[in-house]
Amino acid sequence: MRLIIALLLLFCPVSVFSEYIGTEACKSCHFKQYESFITHSRMSRSLEAVEKMKNKITPEELKTCYQCHTTGYGKKGGFVSVQQTPHLKNTGCEVCHGPGKKHVETKNPSYIKRKVTLKTCESCHTEERIRAFRFKPLLYGGAH
Ligand code: HEC
Ligand code: HEC
Ligand code: HEC
Ligand code: HEC
Repeated sequence: MRLIIALLLLFCPVSVFSEYIGTEACKSCHFKQYESFITHSRMSRSLEAVEKMKNKITPEELKTCYQCHTTGYGKKGGFVSVQQTPHLKNTGCEVCHGPGKKHVETKNPSYIKRKVTLKTCESCHTEERIRAFRFKPLLYGGAH
C-alpha cells in the first residue's frame, strides 16, 4: 500500500503555478461539487471552530491554527486574515486541488490538480490526528 502511494506521488504532476482564488469561484462551473461540499463537508466551515476559541487563546496561538483551518495560509496568494482575504477563510476546494486561479481564468484542466492523494490530507490530518481519525478509507470523505 505504501509503495503504491509512493509511486502515485512520483508520477503526480503537482507543479501548478497559480494563486488561490477561493471556493466561491468554482461554483459557476462545478455546481454539483460545490453544493455537495458546502452542504456536507465540515471542512467548508473549518474556521468556525477556531473562531469560537478565539477569546481563549493569544493572537499568536491563533495564527498557528490558520495553517490547517484556512486555505493557503503562508503561501503565495493564500489566506492572510479574515479582513483581507475573507474568501479563503475556510479549508476550501484548493486545499485538495491546489491553487485554482489560473484554472478559473483559462478553464484548462491541466492547471488544476485532479489526483488527490493521502499525502495531501496528511499536511493537516497529521500523525497524531490519524490515529483517532482513520481517514484512509475516506479519501472522498471531506470532499463531495
Ligand atoms: C469557468 C469555468 C470553470 C471554473 C470557474 C472552474 N473550473 Fe474546474 N474545470 C472546468 C473545465 C471546463 C474542466 C474540464 C472539463 C471537466 O472535467 O469538467 C474543469 C476540470 C476540473 C477538474 C478536473 C481536472 C482534470 O484533470 O480532469 C478539477 C479537479 C477542477 N476543475 C476543479 C476546479 C476548482 C477547485 C475550481 C475553483 C478554484 C474550478 N475547477 C473552477 C471549468 C471551470
Ligand atoms: C496540523 C493541522 C492543524 C492545526 C495546526 C490546528 N488544527 Fe484544529 N483540526 C485539524 C484537523 C485535521 C481537524 C479535524 C480532525 C479531527 O477532529 O482531529 C481539526 C479539528 C479541530 C476542532 C474540532 C472541530 C469540530 O467541529 O469538532 C477544533 C475546535 C479545532 N480543530 C481548533 C483548533 C485551534 C483553536 C487551533 C489553533 C490553536 C487548531 N485547531 C490548529 C487540524 C489542525
Ligand atoms: C478533501 C479533499 C477535496 C476537497 C476539499 C475537494 N475535492 Fe474535488 N476531488 C477530490 C477527490 C479525491 C477527487 C477524485 C479525484 C480522482 O479522480 O481521483 C475529486 C474530484 C473532483 C473533480 C473531478 C470530477 C469528479 O467529481 O470526480 C472536480 C471537478 C472537483 N473535484 C471539484 C471540486 C470543487 C469545485 C471543490 C470545492 C467546492 C472540491 N472539488 C473540493 C477531493 C477534494
Ligand atoms: C489545509 C488542511 C486540510 C487538508 C489538506 C485536508 N483537511 Fe480534512 N479537515 C481539515 C480541518 C481543519 C477539519 C476540521 C473541520 C471542522 O470540523 O471544523 C477537517 C475535517 C475533515 C473531515 C471531517 C468531516 C467533514 O465532513 O469534513 C474529513 C472526513 C476530512 N477532513 C477528510 C480529508 C481528506 C480525505 C483530505 C485529503 C484528501 C483532507 N481532509 C485534507 C483540514 C484539512
